[in-house]
Amino acid sequence: MRKQLMRWSRVLVCAIACSMATVACDNKPPVPKAAFNSTDVTGIDYAQGFELTDHTGQKRTLADYTGKIVVVFFGFTHCPDVCPTTLAEMAAVKKELGTDGDKLQVLFVTVDPERDTQQALADFVPAFDPSFVGLYGSTEQTMKLQKDYKLFVQKVANKQGGGYSVDHTAGSYVYDAQGRIRLFVRSGQGPQAILHDIKLILAGA
Ligand code: NI
Repeated sequence: MRKQLMRWSRVLVCAIACSMATVACDNKPPVPKAAFNSTDVTGIDYAQGFELTDHTGQKRTLADYTGKIVVVFFGFTHCPDVCPTTLAEMAAVKKELGTDGDKLQVLFVTVDPERDTQQALADFVPAFDPSFVGLYGSTEQTMKLQKDYKLFVQKVANKQGGGYSVDHTAGSYVYDAQGRIRLFVRSGQGPQAILHDIKLILAGA
């Protein structure tokens, strides 16, 4: 009887040890796939960076903003709707982030360098938020940019009054603090959706 008891207790100890081992093993939390509202483009081989000039005349590359979450939006200052709306939304997102707002850098890159001079960008971009930066390049740099970022850009002559408008890809690319491309944000998602995604990246997603 005593022998049997000892055998049972040994079995029991073993069972507990085994189950604990299993628990220890299963205890690693599974890496949750981040539920982004935007398109997760992590790992794509385009949209890797740029060489441009900012609205104060400084040469800039993506690496200058390492340590911040960078949102790059392409547009033009004469844009009647999408561009100002997007910049206003990004300003709202930055505000909503509170103190974490400092970890966000919004870059507005013109696809219309002909009209969007350094001065035009300086007048337009920081008006949405003083930290926002306008970027421009030469015609050649802008052409290269369109290729590097697979942008659709097309000048369209105005029907009345002369001049032209520019049809363009209306979305933003988001980089994490290490400068890795992470998201493509379609325009029209609204600030709450963007805020949610940026918070995820800030939390290490
Ligand atoms: Ni626009």
